[in-house]
Amino acid sequence: VLVLSGPNLQLLGTREPAIYGTTTLADIEKQVRDLASTRGAAITFLQSNHEGALLDAIGAAPGSFDGILINAGAFTHTSLALFDALKAVALPAIEVHLSNPESREAFRHESKIAGACAAKVAGFGAASYTLALTGLLDLLDKRSQSH
Ligand code: DQA
Repeated sequence: VLVLSGPNLQLLGTREPAIYGTTTLADIEKQVRDLASTRGAAITFLQSNHEGALLDAIGAAPGSFDGILINAGAFTHTSLALFDALKAVALPAIEVHLSNPESREAFRHESKIAGACAAKVAGFGAASYTLALTGLLDLLDKRSQSH
């Protein structure tokens, strides 16, 4: 599973803790890796502030990954290119957010990438990542059983 985190998420821990909590991205990576290992899944964890780096990672994913978790940060609300990339690779992707964007400012209510994702997990803080991984691995298990 490819786990992508977009802009400003390297600042988790100190970034607006009332909204995002005090868990760092390194803590989240550890939680995701621990869960993945109990489920027999391998993880690549990448954070970038650069839309192009996220696009490159998505574009290169087929053949190396079975699915994607993506917290695109503010690119969620702006990036048609991320929508197109997720559509292009056609791997099951889960949209992840620590906060619940739909209970925040109006500009966060629209996700450009939601239509390219199988599901969304938002509002559970750092746990959104592990909840999303559980959901994605269950989805992949179900698919491999029916094939
Ligand atoms: C976020 C929500 C986005 O609206 C915001 O721009 C972020 C973080 C979240 O995880 O809650 O950077 O994706």
